Amino acid sequence: MQNGPIIIEKAGFSDLLVLQKLEKACFDKDAWPLLDLAGVLTLPRIIRLKAVINYKIAGFIAGDADNQNIGWVSTIGVFPEYRRMGVGAALLKAFEADVSTPEIRLTVRQSNQPAIKMYEELGYSSIETWEAYYKDGEDGLVMRKLRAIT
Ligand SMILES: CC(C)(COP(=O)(O)OP(=O)(O)OC[C@H]1O[C@@H](n2cnc3c(N)ncnc32)[C@H](O)[C@@H]1OP(=O)(O)O)[C@@H](O)C(=O)NCCC(=O)NCCS
Repeated sequence: MQNGPIIIEKAGFSDLLVLQKLEKACFDKDAWPLLDLAGVLTLPRIIRLKAVINYKIAGFIAGDADNQNIGWVSTIGVFPEYRRMGVGAALLKAFEADVSTPEIRLTVRQSNQPAIKMYEELGYSSIETWEAYYKDGEDGLVMRKLRAIT
């Protein structure tokens, strides 16, 4: 499937329908409603990046910095056919470069081993468990990365 470079670009409202498909492919019953996705693609101060391969969207990441100078990843997903090609890691690194906070956090289902492995590979470790954080009652792991900002 991948026979071109991974290009990371800013995402925008014109990506809404593809990103709705991506949400469904990645999160099924947890997928954001269209209105929430539209908000993420338009509201100020949100970092929203897409990974493009051969002119097609392969993945997406969004998040922002809170008022305590912590960057939060609110969503990251890669279409199944583009997984294990470095797209998720490229998106997370690009988000880290854009958010420029000394700390970055995210929440992940405790059963989501692929994502947890990727976060650990990129320097994240779990700091807290949020009980029954997800709609079906599964716990969420809060993971964070600390880095020096120069
Ligand atoms: C998690 C996700 C974003 C990873 O994206 P990806 O593009 O496949 O990840 P990468 O190819 O960049 O992988 C980077 C590293 O993460 C780890 N990793 C990724 N997927 C893995 C898997 N299925 N099993 C084990 N390790 C995995 C590996 O260490 C991998 O490096 P390697 O391929 O050199 O071994 C993707 O699986 C996804 O979209 N999942 C569904 C949505 C989701 O769960 N999002 C996270 C919500 S918190």
